[in-house]
Amino acid sequence: MPAIRFDQVSKTYRGGQVRALDGVSFEIAQGEFFGLLGPNGAGKTSLISILAGLSQASGGSIQVHGHDVVSDYAAARRALGIVPQELVFDPFFSVREALEIQSGYFGVRNNGAWITELLENLGLADKARANMRQLSGGMKRRVLVAQALVHRPPVIVLDEPTAGVDVELRQTLWQFIARLNREGHTVLLTTHYLEEAEALCQRLAMLKQGRIVALDRTSDLLAGRASTMLRFKTDAALPPSLAAQSRVTGRIVQIKAHDAAEVETILATLRAAACPVEDLEIGRADLEDVFLEIMQGAGQ
Ligand SMILES: Nc1ncnc2c1ncn2[C@@H]1O[C@H](COP(=O)(O)OP(=O)(O)O)[C@@H](O)[C@H]1O
Ligand SMILES: [Mg+2]
Repeated sequence: MPAIRFDQVSKTYRGGQVRALDGVSFEIAQGEFFGLLGPNGAGKTSLISILAGLSQASGGSIQVHGHDVVSDYAAARRALGIVPQELVFDPFFSVREALEIQSGYFGVRNNGAWITELLENLGLADKARANMRQLSGGMKRRVLVAQALVHRPPVIVLDEPTAGVDVELRQTLWQFIARLNREGHTVLLTTHYLEEAEALCQRLAMLKQGRIVALDRTSDLLAGRASTMLRFKTDAALPPSLAAQSRVTGRIVQIKAHDAAEVETILATLRAAACPVEDLEIGRADLEDVFLEIMQGAGQ
């Protein structure tokens, strides 16, 4: 039985004017660390909201450990720990109280030891008695993670947990989530950071405009793809041999390279053509670059 099964899930908003999800089908195996990638607006949060029972699909169905998220909501929800993208919290309680209340929602009694462990592992131990409204954004996000885990769900879902958070939280969070994954928990992570997904996820799905456009093992998705990107500005025309592999936006040129030797070849070609180069940067190809390459490949 898969941990999560998405079957032809679709979602429209505004009476059908916005199609956020368009027949999304895939499965996540139990114990997997799975990444759902996509640019802003791709439909990631819409999919997670339907999974969490916070919003209704316009079509299709989702099962968690075999439980339908609509007809068997309570069982499906109990199997899930969901860290939402938006910071939602109750300002009237302390951190520990919030976690005790959340335990109560799931009918978990005598949860003190696990709550203490969550607080310690998420760097919240000294904030246990602090009121939720006194916490910084990063600390609130830690509480959201603790809340999601309070009933020890077998499936952990994190919707862009590291968007705009500090490095320390990222590290604390990923250490802890990786440990839970090693202990057998399934993890579904949505992000638009390729580096993060690449480091953590065994398999990836890429969502674009509500459709799955790639689904594969992370290593297979990235294998053989250009990993380095040259970016510079120029007023001159590019040598024809480079024009084919370049993306040009006004004066800004981006050229992919597979390795350092190719970077040298590209720079030598530009120099030989006397093509002036301003503000040269050499960086990693980001998700969008990999995306574009996958899209372009898919169309051929
Ligand atoms: N409540 C809503 N009402 C109308 N449109 C929405 C709503 N929520 C999301 N959308 C639209 O659905 C699409 C997918 O959004 P979302 O699921 O938030 O994507 P992501 O999480 O990948 O950024 C976007 O075009 C977004 O504007
Ligand atoms: Mg989102």
